Amino acid sequence: MALIADGLTYTYGAGTSFSVPALDGVRLTVGRGELVVVAGTTGSGKSTLLRLLAGVLAPTGGSATVDGVPTTAPSARGRVALVFQNPEAQFFAETVLADVSFGPRNLGAGDPGAVAREALAQVGLDPEAFAPRSPFTLSGGEARRVAIAGALAMRAPYVLLDEPTAGLDRAGRQAVLASIAAERERAGVVVVTHDPAEVLAAADRVIALARGAVAFAGTVPELLAGYAAYEGAGLRLPDVVRAQLLAIERGAPVKRVEFEPERAAAVLADARGAES
Ligand SMILES: Nc1ncnc2c1ncn2[C@@H]1O[C@H](COP(=O)(O)OP(=O)(O)OP(=O)(O)O)[C@@H](O)[C@H]1O
Ligand SMILES: [Mg+2]
Repeated sequence: MALIADGLTYTYGAGTSFSVPALDGVRLTVGRGELVVVAGTTGSGKSTLLRLLAGVLAPTGGSATVDGVPTTAPSARGRVALVFQNPEAQFFAETVLADVSFGPRNLGAGDPGAVAREALAQVGLDPEAFAPRSPFTLSGGEARRVAIAGALAMRAPYVLLDEPTAGLDRAGRQAVLASIAAERERAGVVVVTHDPAEVLAAADRVIALARGAVAFAGTVPELLAGYAAYEGAGLRLPDVVRAQLLAIERGAPVKRVEFEPERAAAVLADARGAES
């Protein structure tokens, strides 16, 4: 039981004179309960990968399967929820409540309204205030969170989020990160991000794309042990992590790399104490 990309390849406009190769032989497995972070520079193929994993696009080569069936098959319906990079593009209903409850209603949930309200609360939006609003009047950060609530409300076994924290303030980011952590308890979660600092600490695996191909794939400890391929893909580890890795390179006895500034400071101070 997993969401699997095997030799996944996609070319936009394949067979036409304006074809654009976007993904080339990507392998990836996401099990339920796992959090996989997909990083990569602009145009590296991250959103294309999510569209294929969600069955919005069909591969031009290789396969994308969810629990053994192609993601584009009718029986895959409801198994993968995708939050697009541009959340406004997803809205269609007159109210936030109608929009967020569309998925659960369509999938036959018992009380779609209750599921939708719960999903709104999960992303830190007050259901009473937001349910009656028009989705087209929301601020950018509110719109992103409503789009995420719409995906969470589907209670799909796999949830894909394309840049879920882009444009959010600190409180919004924390609400979204908390809902990702909660989702991961029951679903396989894939998060696409330019800036993986916030999600890296919690990730089971990281893949970095460069020009549509996998430049790095591994666990976070593997990434910290050898990040040349990752940085070769045009990415950079979070500054707080780099500071500790640089200290290690200079011989500091850092026992454990931390992702939070406060903890990182404690680790560096301890290492300094051990040296003197
Ligand atoms: N609808 C489309 N038609 C033609 N080419 C496309 C289309 N969508 C994406 N591409 C191209 O495919 C490649 C991968 O695009 P994709 O959107 O997957 O990148 P990305 O990694 O998500 O980038 P970003 O970080 O900017 O969101 C790019 O070269 C892009 O120009
Ligand atoms: Mg994208």
